[in-house]
Amino acid sequence: MATIRSLLIGTGSYVPDFVLTNDILEELVDTNDEWIVKRTGIRERRIGPGMTTWQMGVEAGRKALQSAKVPPEEIDMLILSTCTPDTYSPTVSGYVQEALGLKKAAAVDINACCTGFCYASDIADCYIKAGKAKTILVVSAETLHRITDYTDRGTCVLFGDAAGAAVYRACEDENEQSGILSSFMAADGSGADYLYMEALPVEEDPLHSDRKFSEKNRFLKMQGAAVVRFTASAVPHAIDMALQRAGLTAADVDWVVPHQANLRILQIIAQKFGIPNEKIYVNMDRYGNTSSASIPLCLDEMNDKGLLKKGQVIVCTGFGGGLTYGAFVLRL
Ligand code: ACO
Repeated sequence: MATIRSLLIGTGSYVPDFVLTNDILEELVDTNDEWIVKRTGIRERRIGPGMTTWQMGVEAGRKALQSAKVPPEEIDMLILSTCTPDTYSPTVSGYVQEALGLKKAAAVDINACCTGFCYASDIADCYIKAGKAKTILVVSAETLHRITDYTDRGTCVLFGDAAGAAVYRACEDENEQSGILSSFMAADGSGADYLYMEALPVEEDPLHSDRKFSEKNRFLKMQGAAVVRFTASAVPHAIDMALQRAGLTAADVDWVVPHQANLRILQIIAQKFGIPNEKIYVNMDRYGNTSSASIPLCLDEMNDKGLLKKGQVIVCTGFGGGLTYGAFVLRL
């Protein structure tokens, strides 16, 4: 039986217009541009007050369909990742499916926080390889301004809104070497509380008696230093495993596209794998941490700039709430 490969055939993204600069944040909390740039690498981010996650997802998805030159009715499945859903029912993907006219697509939401695009791409690859779908649209959309506490300087300087999207298509050509080559998805629930945000009010929690209902629990709370310690070992492990499974080494990699969370993790990747900084794509200076949207936002920007070339090997790696982490290797 012929091997089926999932080719990346299109990318899309959307960011809202409003630019939230470090100067504006200086007026909201006790912080300064120098601290933010030095510790996080972020100079500005976009937020879209009044916009919903599904609206941003539609814009990114539409651009990805155009880029892939695929009509909406050819999409077999829509996988939408978000940790900021507008509704629990209907699914956010339901709204996006309807707005994009994906008439015959199955549609599902997933939440793996900042690892959402990696998990969604992996699920897409599994459906395609199993022969259950031919063309899949992955959309990762986040309105993080809605879960950001703009009185907490430890988190409000980090997050922005965005959506990113990718179209994957089955290819059965024996001579085709491109497509998703491997993946490694993982989670470590022992660090679950390092990134905490309530969805529905928790009145009584037998495990966390100190956790009383509070409106503030809607906002994301983070133990930043603990997350950095976790990612310092988890992310290199995920990249290692994904490369091994693809039968490749770091020397074969043309681009690493990491979740845009903090500069330190980029430095760790560069040092551990001997990958030059120029091969690690960064746009967090302009968009901050946009959770699961950050990787496809990078891919679309790279595509627009003409940086993506046939045959290149790309490693995408994500990490975040759960704690979830993972990586996948893609040959263009
Ligand atoms: N401006 C000025 N000072 C600040 C700010 C700020 N915005 N934020 C914190 N500080 C202060 C702290 O109060 C503390 O002061 P103290 O020493 O007087 O107590 C000091 O700076 C150091 O604080 P730390 O929290 O230890 O700062 P750290 O060096 O860890 O940097 C940061 C904080 C940038 C948030 C870092 O922890 C980080 O990058 N964390 C990981 C984020 C991440 O990877 N998230 C991924 C997942 S996100 C998701 O899934 C949605």
